[in-house]
Amino acid sequence: MFIRSVTLQRSFQRLLSKNCLHTLCTQQQLKREMSSTKDDWSVFDGKEHFKTRSSIIQPLIAQVLKDKLLDDASDSHLVDVYDLDAFDERIENLLEAFHEPFFLHALAVKSQPFAGILKHATTKYPQLIGLECASFEEASLARAIGTKSDHIVYDSPVKTQQELEKAIECGFYINTDNIKEMEMIDSILKKPGLQTSSTFGVRINPLVGEGGIAMSSTAGKSSKFGLFYCDETFDSLLEVFKRFPWLQGVHCHVGSQGCSLDLLSNGALAIYRAAERLNAALGEQQIKCLDIGGGVPTSYTRDKEAVSFTEYRKVLQQKEPDFFSGKYRVITEFGRSVFTKYGMTLTHISCVKGSDVDSVDAFDRFRGKSNENRILLTHVGSNALMREAYQLAIKAWRRRFTVFNKEGSEKEIDSQDFCKYDVAGPLCFQGDYIAKDVLLPRDISNGDILAIHDTGGYTYSLYSHYNSRSPHAVYTVQKNHNGKLELKCIKPKATVNETIQFWNYEQFQ
Ligand SMILES: Cc1ncc(COP(=O)(O)O)c(C=O)c1O
Repeated sequence: MFIRSVTLQRSFQRLLSKNCLHTLCTQQQLKREMSSTKDDWSVFDGKEHFKTRSSIIQPLIAQVLKDKLLDDASDSHLVDVYDLDAFDERIENLLEAFHEPFFLHALAVKSQPFAGILKHATTKYPQLIGLECASFEEASLARAIGTKSDHIVYDSPVKTQQELEKAIECGFYINTDNIKEMEMIDSILKKPGLQTSSTFGVRINPLVGEGGIAMSSTAGKSSKFGLFYCDETFDSLLEVFKRFPWLQGVHCHVGSQGCSLDLLSNGALAIYRAAERLNAALGEQQIKCLDIGGGVPTSYTRDKEAVSFTEYRKVLQQKEPDFFSGKYRVITEFGRSVFTKYGMTLTHISCVKGSDVDSVDAFDRFRGKSNENRILLTHVGSNALMREAYQLAIKAWRRRFTVFNKEGSEKEIDSQDFCKYDVAGPLCFQGDYIAKDVLLPRDISNGDILAIHDTGGYTYSLYSHYNSRSPHAVYTVQKNHNGKLELKCIKPKATVNETIQFWNYEQFQ
């Protein structure tokens, strides 16, 4: 067993936070947070939390303004910032928890595809970190930044013959979804002279049940993914392994967010037991690899992560110590739990629409008399925060918000009330809100700065072309040896020409 040396860089978040990032929520808190009730938000939107958040991130806001990343003169009103030091700390926790050399942690590209961050992780930990790719394009991105072929886990739910041919030529680890895909692979592998270092697994649905969010739960009977695994289907699955002897792995992914460690570990153990049972029936260890997927939840309400990977390991080990025997190569595919909390979106507030029965402004007065919330018009909406807007009602993706004065100072909140705002985006449809009923200070003015927390996963990766808004700039932040925050651009804002290129204007000029 090798023990990793842990010289963690201290992030601005960690240095300034009174709470350690890896202090755990209790299981009760975790359950509550995963269901995101209204009551939770009245607490987390409250003054005390707002004040703590403000003091944690104010130095970042000051640096962002100093570097003119939000700047009227250059028409820069929106930026994403990733805290690489805090991200590294999270990755260290993952590598410590699952430290054996037979683990490969393939980070889910679908949650955070910026090359600058993926490359940072794969070069810092070249033996241990790979990339899980849900399309041939994601796999090509992984390859383009120099990821080793056997560290690229190609999981696309639908693959074409040509994509499979190229994936096999590249030598990716390929998880198949269904028998048709296996037949395509079989025909490719039988081509004369074919040489490949690819290895193959099959995604099974361990039927351990759904988590708290139907849309991201994949281990129920209605799931579209993989082949069902239960007593009734065992013989058929065995036949699959006999028919395609190049199949050497089993894969599952139970769900994303809303899943307890109990549910996730049941999925992982179901595939371990499936592999044991199949190998026994096959009379040899044909199955050599277990891919347990991702799914560890994050917390959208607190500075702390909801779960430490150490705890996940403990749960797995308690249920089945042999899981860690080294008999199998084990792949993990975490996304949300390694990326989300380390990204933040900062936007100017373009315009505040008031709501006050006593206002001298007739428009504000009318909104007030209609009992409507105040509105913050910002520069980001469902273009980058798609799930937040389209699934506003379920509040599963609701974020925390903190506001700063336009010159970057903290809001003075002791002497003022908080009131309710709806946070709206710039897109041309009435559903373009990223949150409603958000409690924030009364004295918000046009040009103030809104920080949207925990936007590092499943936000920008879902970017929508609706209204053709140019995708905004992205920076990383790290503390240098003098303690100064250094911001580095990993994606400049797209130009108008780059943005309209998507619609192929060049052909029709
Ligand atoms: C196959 C697969 N693996 C991994 C993940 C990452 O899940 P999470 O971000 O919850 O860790 C997903 C997410 O949808 C997935 O579908």
